[in-house]
Amino acid sequence: MRKFHTAIVGATGVVGQEFIKILEQQGFPMASIHLFASDRSAGRKMLVGGKELRVKEATAQSFDHVDLALFSAGSEISQYLAPFAVQSGAVVIDNSAAFRMEPDVPLVVPEVNTEDLKGHRGLIANPNCSTIQLVVALYPLHKVNPIKRVIVDTYQSVSGWGAAAMEELSNQTKAVLEGKSVVPHVFPHQIAFNLLPEIDVFLDNGYSKEEWKLVHETRKIMHDETMAISATCVRVPVYIGHSEAVHVEFSQPMSREEARHILAEAPGVKVLDDPAVSLYPHAWSAVGSDDVFVGRIRRDASSPNGLVMWVVADNLRKGAALNAIQIAWELNNRGWI
Ligand SMILES: NC(=O)c1ccc[n+]([C@@H]2O[C@H](COP(=O)([O-])OP(=O)(O)OC[C@H]3O[C@@H](n4cnc5c(N)ncnc54)[C@H](OP(=O)(O)O)[C@@H]3O)[C@@H](O)[C@H]2O)c1
Repeated sequence: MRKFHTAIVGATGVVGQEFIKILEQQGFPMASIHLFASDRSAGRKMLVGGKELRVKEATAQSFDHVDLALFSAGSEISQYLAPFAVQSGAVVIDNSAAFRMEPDVPLVVPEVNTEDLKGHRGLIANPNCSTIQLVVALYPLHKVNPIKRVIVDTYQSVSGWGAAAMEELSNQTKAVLEGKSVVPHVFPHQIAFNLLPEIDVFLDNGYSKEEWKLVHETRKIMHDETMAISATCVRVPVYIGHSEAVHVEFSQPMSREEARHILAEAPGVKVLDDPAVSLYPHAWSAVGSDDVFVGRIRRDASSPNGLVMWVVADNLRKGAALNAIQIAWELNNRGWI
């Protein structure tokens, strides 16, 4: 089997660390691994496969002899460095929002649109965390009964905003419990014991950028520009795991039994749905899992063709690092790298 010289840009971040963990767990075929971050982390040692590796500063020259570059250091870094990596002959899988909506850049969730990887030009975009878990649950239903409209409300963990946001939740929680005052740094308001309906910047149309990403990325991945979608994205004081209340309107009515059956057979989905014994997905139990969990499946009492469900996934795994590595496996298995 071919082995890949692999680079991780943003290796010290929460997603970068998850990349390392999953590459090891899955035995991804690597000839070598190179860890990159900012100059602040240069020289820091990280454990990979039991060996200590030094983190280097990511520069335009970092990608000579790299076959696969996994980027997770934010849009600005991707915009600047990904073109150098591609020019050096690497295939880039980028976790940031920098290239997702460019028409010639595949935006891929392997359970939905692997074929879009065919003919890639060296740059592949990994979707937003909240989009990935949504489309994994929607697509199998859409194939059977085309979806007309989706309304989704998200409950997104702080790890979706990186390591500093997790630290902020810890510090604020401790401060509140000790009766001390809280000064927010990462989020605009206190996140401990609170909910914030603001993720990323607000746009002129009143939606946040996170909500708008969810709309347009879902349409691109599912190849349906006509699907009506509206979202409200909320940050919640949970460390890891995004949850979504999803209201779907199909072309035809769909019973909860049919939806359950379709989802139980769907790749990457696990149905947890027995309200009588309080069985449904929740963020705490999704941490460390690869599946997208679906429960609380029910007919929408307000719409004849409507269905409601609750969708939960580990945002650092399926919502970020795992999805990117699944893309790398698909490229390898199909000889597209
Ligand atoms: N967290 C999620 O659930 C999630 C999901 C999907 C996509 N993403 C995307 O993944 C990216 C990283 O997110 P994260 O949550 O891992 O953030 P994070 O924990 O804040 O980590 C950021 C990483 O980027 C590196 N970095 C910052 N400035 C850099 C520079 N000038 N040059 C090279 N590296 C630099 C940091 O290195 P230092 O340690 O040296 O500062 C660190 O390794 C973002 O684009 C985010 O939108 C995140």
